[in-house]
Amino acid sequence: MEFRERYEQYRASVEEVLQHLFLRKVPAGRLQEAMRYSLLAGGKRVRPVMTLAFCEALEGEKRGALFLGAALECVHTYSLIHDDLPCMDNDDFRRGRPTCHKVYGETMAVLAGDALQAEAFRLISITPGLSAEQKLDAVNALSSACGGDGMVGGQVLDTEGLAHDEASLRDLCLRKTGCLLGVAADLGCIAAGASSWEVRSCAREYGTHLGLAFQVRDDMLDVTADPEEFGKPVGSDREEGKRTFVDLLGLERCAALVAEETALAKQAVSCFRDNQFLLELADALADRRK
Ligand code: IPE
Ligand code: IPE
Ligand code: MG
Ligand code: MG
Ligand code: MG
Repeated sequence: MEFRERYEQYRASVEEVLQHLFLRKVPAGRLQEAMRYSLLAGGKRVRPVMTLAFCEALEGEKRGALFLGAALECVHTYSLIHDDLPCMDNDDFRRGRPTCHKVYGETMAVLAGDALQAEAFRLISITPGLSAEQKLDAVNALSSACGGDGMVGGQVLDTEGLAHDEASLRDLCLRKTGCLLGVAADLGCIAAGASSWEVRSCAREYGTHLGLAFQVRDDMLDVTADPEEFGKPVGSDREEGKRTFVDLLGLERCAALVAEETALAKQAVSCFRDNQFLLELADALADRRK
């Protein structure tokens, strides 16, 4: 099957799971509405696609990977809702529509993010077909990736403006973005029941290198993208006084860094037998325009 077709199949199956979440209107319907507004706004679903691809590469059952991928997408969406708030990046557009706080207000946006994070871990707990040990591994992996040493830690370094050189900026990006892409790959291994440390660390290495490439590409697109296609504002980093890889290296060296990290990601999965999709995914993300 062609890469695009397979990506589309993975994406559509994640979409189907997400569509069924948060439909109950109690105790406060506006909360569920705000959660669904951001969750179902048509993101690329890169992280759950990666989870499904690793699970399939390891010949695991799709159902478990779908739930774990959906949980990760809830965490990712919560991180975006909070990232857009006036106290953080102060952005008005996301996924091609007004941001959550623009529509539902800041209080509801904070609470929608909070609830999405908690619901992610509930989803893991009810994932069908996984043993208690697999679920515990998934909770451990996801909580480490999104917590104070991971995504949230990276957001702290970002908002406090604590990164001034290449090494500290790399650390910041690995935390704020690399950790969630790394765990996307790992969750696919967990769903497939791959307990080998070697397999899991190759998968993580792939996701983490792609995560750094993904953030550098995002910083480039913040300068060069067409806002309509990008689905979010262009020039937001400069406006917020963010120091990004583009300021530090310039666009040309950024492109070289994306290529380098993409090559390292591909190398990390060279030991996987069925790795064609993973290799093409790495290349597709390096060239993405949205
Ligand atoms: C945006 O992530 C945040 C970054 C890490 C740069 P995505 O580019 O995956 O956003 P969606 O999910 O497609 O909207
Ligand atoms: C990604 O960084 C941050 C996270 C959501 C963890 P950005 O702030 O650059 O992401 P965008 O550009 O708003 O999507
Ligand atoms: Mg940000
Ligand atoms: Mg932002
Ligand atoms: Mg950005």
